[in-house]
Amino acid sequence: MSHQTTEDPARAAESLDPLEAVMRYHQETKHHFSRFARSLGYLDWANQPDPFRRYLGSPFIPFPLLKPDDAPLSPLYQDLYRPGAIASTPVTVRALSRFFEYALAISAWKQAGEARWALRSNPSSGNLHPTEGYLLIDEIPGLSPFPALYHYAPREHALELRAEVPKESFRWLMRKFPPNAFLIGLTSVNWRETWKYGERAFRYCQHDVGHAIGSARIAAQTLGWRMLLLDGMADDAVAALLGVDRPEDFDGAEREHPDCLAVVWPADQGAGVSAGQRVSVPLVLATDAVRESVRQIWHGKANRLSRDDPVQWEFLNQVEVAAWKSNTEPRVVELNDSRPAVDTSSYPSALDSGLHPGRPKAGQVIRQRRSALAFDGKTSLSAGSFFTMLAHVMPRVDRDLSERPMPWDVLPWEPAVHLALFVHRVAGLAPGLYMLARDPAKVGLLRGATRHQFAWTSPPDSPEDLPLFLLQEGDARQLAAQVSCGQDIAGDSAFSLGMIAEFESSLRRYGPWFYRRLFWETGLIGQVLYLEAEAAGVRATGIGCFFDDPVHQVFGFNDAMFQSLYHFTTGGHVEDPRLTTLPPYSLDY
Ligand SMILES: Cc1cc2nc3c(=O)[nH]c(=O)nc-3n(C[C@H](O)[C@H](O)[C@H](O)COP(=O)(O)O)c2cc1C
Repeated sequence: MSHQTTEDPARAAESLDPLEAVMRYHQETKHHFSRFARSLGYLDWANQPDPFRRYLGSPFIPFPLLKPDDAPLSPLYQDLYRPGAIASTPVTVRALSRFFEYALAISAWKQAGEARWALRSNPSSGNLHPTEGYLLIDEIPGLSPFPALYHYAPREHALELRAEVPKESFRWLMRKFPPNAFLIGLTSVNWRETWKYGERAFRYCQHDVGHAIGSARIAAQTLGWRMLLLDGMADDAVAALLGVDRPEDFDGAEREHPDCLAVVWPADQGAGVSAGQRVSVPLVLATDAVRESVRQIWHGKANRLSRDDPVQWEFLNQVEVAAWKSNTEPRVVELNDSRPAVDTSSYPSALDSGLHPGRPKAGQVIRQRRSALAFDGKTSLSAGSFFTMLAHVMPRVDRDLSERPMPWDVLPWEPAVHLALFVHRVAGLAPGLYMLARDPAKVGLLRGATRHQFAWTSPPDSPEDLPLFLLQEGDARQLAAQVSCGQDIAGDSAFSLGMIAEFESSLRRYGPWFYRRLFWETGLIGQVLYLEAEAAGVRATGIGCFFDDPVHQVFGFNDAMFQSLYHFTTGGHVEDPRLTTLPPYSLDY
């Protein structure tokens, strides 16, 4: 089935170059007050895609199910942000079980009446979970006696053996990385989001990749491991290595779009990478080594997820092609492990702000992370909590990659997303519109692109190193809800925000494939804020549904230089008493 409208932007995009095609896709998938981005307009429940992919016929290796107080134990949440505070755990099956639990596993089952659905450590737009996870790792006792590629099966918290990799090929593939390094890969079944959201779905898949990069990076940090995106890789090579370009394994099954590969390694273990020492990490795998590694024995056939074939949206197919990364950049980055901590100790009332009440463990915060379905319209955040949350999304663009704080050290590009905030209830801060320039060097650019009457003053008691500016005082509750597709969650919270990307300049600088990276960066910001909210005793929700240009008008952005890509809201939540919560894997917690 092919869906076309009379305007048929897809047809028009065919004649455009990839950059214009991506810009046009973005423009055409905006929500307007008068018209939502194109979708079927109804939910075809009988054809809803299964959120759990399996590779039928592949050897199946369940992870040990670990209770919270089983080893490896979780560090304190606040220690995630203190470099050197967490000793590296050796890479064992138990440690990998923990890693996948915190990154991609089921965190709870929810039930309402007869309906039951799973929540995961990583959130997903519409809870549709397009993101699939992979692991490529050397022989590990209890896993397999040879290096192998696995698919992660979240329903069972298990690995499925996809391919056996010859030892020499694996060594060659990984020879430039620190000892005990392994790879993780992410792909997306875009159809899972398209099923519900139609043409805007490609954006949501990218948000979800960003959240999964974040949940994996933070999971790695709990174990004292580092993680870095191999961002120089071409998508063809990512697809080949993860086996998602093998038509014979996807016969009749919905395909997976390759997203990214990342290298993960214990930061302070093994020759040459003890804390404080420099290590060179390439952002690509050698093409020959990839080719060798995929000449292997493959196992399993992807299951079919929907009854009928995916609905085809030509416009989506085109943006996939236009945003495909076909170039390889053989960059190498120099890293060390003596990074300065994010120092929030001088922040006003941070210590008694209520942030980290009872000093929770990271694992607890990760396990309890949920999206708020409603906010109470009352709870106020302390200024200390608010400033600390914002401090943790500051990537320190002024430093080179090796000095950037976790989790911003996972993205090997210059972060290009700022926060336009609707502050409703933060003690000591006037309600109104604010801007956090995540790169202080961009303040002038942002100022020049926004309404000329904005004040750009520092709020009282705002930490000196936080480029946070009051733009305009006022009650922004209704406005925030209105531009968030009328969702009350944006106005009933303590604050909500739009993530403002340096849009056109980034696409021109790097190429149309960077469109996906901009969304990944917003997803990573969202993931940090989700956990920060839990740690502060409040709750958050990602907001993919917002009216794009009305948001731009609020702030005065009037061209493609800056675009809001993702919204977010944080505050005191209201539980829905009709929902029951069940444990993720029948473990008695
Ligand atoms: C990219 C993204 C966009 C989202 N957009 C909305 C939204 O517009 N409105 C909303 O109520 N929830 C939104 N959510 C929250 C999801 O519905 C929620 O993450 C999902 O149901 C899974 O629940 P959990 O976060 O509790 O695990 C969004 C989440 C993500 C990751």
